[in-house]
Amino acid sequence: MPLHSNHLLGLDGMPKDDIQLILDTAVSFREVLERPIKKVPPLQGKTIANMFFENSTRTRFSFELAERRLSADVLGFQASGSSLAKGETLKDTARNIEAMKVDMVVMRHSAAGAPHYVSQVIEANVINAGDGGHEHPTQALLDIYTIREKFGRLHDLHICLVGDISNSRVARSNIFGLKTMGVKVSVCGPATMIPRELDKLGVDVYHHLDEVLPTVDVLNVLRIQLERGAGRLFPSIREYHNYYGITKQRLEKTGRAITVMHPGPINRDVEISADVADGEHSLILQQVLNGVAVRMAVLYLLATRN
Ligand code: CP
Repeated sequence: MPLHSNHLLGLDGMPKDDIQLILDTAVSFREVLERPIKKVPPLQGKTIANMFFENSTRTRFSFELAERRLSADVLGFQASGSSLAKGETLKDTARNIEAMKVDMVVMRHSAAGAPHYVSQVIEANVINAGDGGHEHPTQALLDIYTIREKFGRLHDLHICLVGDISNSRVARSNIFGLKTMGVKVSVCGPATMIPRELDKLGVDVYHHLDEVLPTVDVLNVLRIQLERGAGRLFPSIREYHNYYGITKQRLEKTGRAITVMHPGPINRDVEISADVADGEHSLILQQVLNGVAVRMAVLYLLATRN
């Protein structure tokens, strides 16, 4: 069965079969990344434009690498050097890029819904690489893949997202994806950082880390998004670290080997201490590696859908 949609705009409402198909397809591409020659031909002749209107390191490089590993032709786009600066609209920019026979668009934008809008004005496949505080579907898919790879399963696991939930597109996509896959999901953070409607999504809400740590298998630690005003939501960075920082001491007190993840970029010694980020239970760099395979799977499945 092919994917149900021509686009990957979010995990909200994505069928379980689609998530399963992406995860299973990524296993084959993960194997390609271990080969001496890490390149396969399925996207030969396809052209993909990476339209990044907002900063990125991991997602941009990961998509570009995934596209090149699949033998696609790749176009890079930086908003700062484009005709947007001359007043061109997003619609005109997207339609002009498509007029050059681009098959797929990967898009990051600070406005929630921007990739959804673009998917309605062009024929090319659109992949959301992060839209404002809304969704970051490929990040969540690579997180879910990494959890499944580590534990060999998703059922019976308890995943807790910690920190700045209200500003986090990663949290939203993780919640949608994990819940669809039948995983128990909690969030933990200060009340000012947790949206009220979250319990409607079937997520348990905690405000004290020590209450959730005894039953948790994976902590997915979120960055404090100072650029989105998160600094106004708690009294000081030091206080945040004292209450919600994931430290070695706090984890050791549980007597359990809790797996730690973080989508990056990390604020070291703010939401996560450096020794935990670099420690034996951290999957942070494994997430980055798996991200290339998961994005290869998404690109491949969309490109071959028709
Ligand atoms: N995880 C993530 O989206 O990182 P970048 O902002 O560097 O792409």
